[in-house]
Amino acid sequence: MFRLSQTSLFSKISVWGGGTMGGGIAQITAQAGIPATILEVSQDRIDFSRKQIEGSLARVAKKKCDGDATKMKAYVDGIMKNLTWTTDEKQAADTDLIVEAVIEDIKVKHDLFARVDKLAPKKTVFASNTSSLGIADIASVTGRKDRFGGLHFFSPVPMMKLVEVVRTEELSPEVLAQLKDFATKVGKVPVVTKDSMGFIVNRLLVPYQMEAIRLVERGVASIPDVDTAMKLGCGYPMGPFELCDSVGCDIIKFVIDGWHKQYPEEPLFKPSKLLDDLIAQGKLGKKTGEGFYKYDSKGKKIE
Ligand code: 3HC
Repeated sequence: MFRLSQTSLFSKISVWGGGTMGGGIAQITAQAGIPATILEVSQDRIDFSRKQIEGSLARVAKKKCDGDATKMKAYVDGIMKNLTWTTDEKQAADTDLIVEAVIEDIKVKHDLFARVDKLAPKKTVFASNTSSLGIADIASVTGRKDRFGGLHFFSPVPMMKLVEVVRTEELSPEVLAQLKDFATKVGKVPVVTKDSMGFIVNRLLVPYQMEAIRLVERGVASIPDVDTAMKLGCGYPMGPFELCDSVGCDIIKFVIDGWHKQYPEEPLFKPSKLLDDLIAQGKLGKKTGEGFYKYDSKGKKIE
């Protein structure tokens, strides 16, 4: 077994997949002063990723620099210097830590990790940001199961303080400690969870969101009233439908469909016609301008 020293740190990382989650992970890494490379599949995707990160950094800068335009620009430019984009897997594999944040498709993840396992140096630690697939299953195609863990971030990554660090049976204690240390360095609070379906947060959150949808399907209350109820009644920052639109309705559907397939008798995991119809119409939430609500071009809800 290849052993890393307990104190060795990740001095450069790469994130595979520069979408909303991957881009956010790279951004907070760069903000922590650690160089990050984002691997994407095309120049179009790179342009999208860069624009998304610049937009988010501008929001962070506004707060940090009290709206001073010169300071804000300097702040954003300074962080952007820690970020590199590439479409070259070999270049992106030459790093201390790889965080994978590509689509939630086990075949895509297996193909990717089988390739990267051959390209990356022995010392490189692998992590997946999967929200619903098993880490041990993803790691099964690699020869470094002792150096393969889960780092599950939350959306929007620059704002949410939590990271679930997923421990498989084979993950070495040293690498677990390093992953927790990395989460802390990028400004998050790590919690350790077993490699169990949905880990902690999604195992509780997704059934709650599905129950909210079913409640509307049964005609108990309207979508806005359910959201208002949970915000004012429980102090949640967003209602279940607002959150679904923010995370992506397709993501929630993907998770619940996968769990339903595994546990068809479990009523909490039953699919919903309302959600399925929305997705069939291409209404995936904020990112498509419409989900349970409609959004303007800046992503603000149209009341
Ligand atoms: N980047 C940088 N800053 C951001 C940001 C982003 N992406 N999003 C919000 N902010 C900051 C900005 O400073 C913003 O001010 P600005 O509008 O002037 O730029 C400030 O937050 C306030 O934002 P908003 O006015 O848009 O809205 P809120 O006050 O409601 O705060 C929130 C936004 C922090 C996202 C809050 O609504 C919240 O905590 N929501 C709950 C999110 C949640 O539950 N996430 C977990 C989802 S589950 C998940 O991710 C798991 C996955 O596997 C599916």
